[in-house]
Amino acid sequence: MIIAPSILNADNLNLKKDITKAIEAGIGRFHIDIMDAHFVPNLSFGPELVSDFKCSFPMTEAEIHLMSDKPDVLVPAFVKAGADMVELHYEAMDEEKLNYWLDYLVSNGVKTGLVLNPDTPVEVIKNFAPKLDQVLLMTVYPGFGGQKFIPNSVERIAKAREILDEVKKRVPIEVDGGINSKTAKLARDAGAEVFVAGSYIFKNGDIATQVNHLRDIIK
Ligand code: DX5
Ligand code: ZN
Repeated sequence: MIIAPSILNADNLNLKKDITKAIEAGIGRFHIDIMDAHFVPNLSFGPELVSDFKCSFPMTEAEIHLMSDKPDVLVPAFVKAGADMVELHYEAMDEEKLNYWLDYLVSNGVKTGLVLNPDTPVEVIKNFAPKLDQVLLMTVYPGFGGQKFIPNSVERIAKAREILDEVKKRVPIEVDGGINSKTAKLARDAGAEVFVAGSYIFKNGDIATQVNHLRDIIK
């Protein structure tokens, strides 16, 4: 089980401090939300944030959740910035482009993820599974932190787990949106293994306490 804190709702003016606290609590991977104000109605970080992150924390993984329909501009930029994994939205491009950019990531030694919005049928992962290192099921509609976990996500996780098990390649399922001590347990029981948490970790008092609490719940 892996916890990947989303820094979207961390204190932007104290990011290094917040990230350091999470690392001291045992975190080895961060989830960095990239929003382009086009694919989703919000704007967040650019590639410089990722290169600064890797410069300060070279041993910590940067997982890029790319909420953009401009992969031609952004995928190479985030690869160059040092992303360890780039997760592409199924809804953001056609299947030909998706295959192209997944191959691009593989050939650049960057891990691949495919992201599905809450209303995209989970069956679509079948075609891409051999190229994937991770599947991210959105448990809220992307764009903002602090939203509520969508209850039917639980069935979607179980269904996706079934589909991935048929493909034989070991692909973990990640969940993102509204993860807290209650929803993390539901998601874990359904087959999720990677848990993104933003406001639960960064907007609820002591960061280490929140990380430790979530870790206890999902172990
Ligand atoms: C939403 C983002 C999430 C978000 C999670 O579009 O993809 O990663 O930051 O935040 P919480 O955990 O607050 O729902
Ligand atoms: Zn995200």
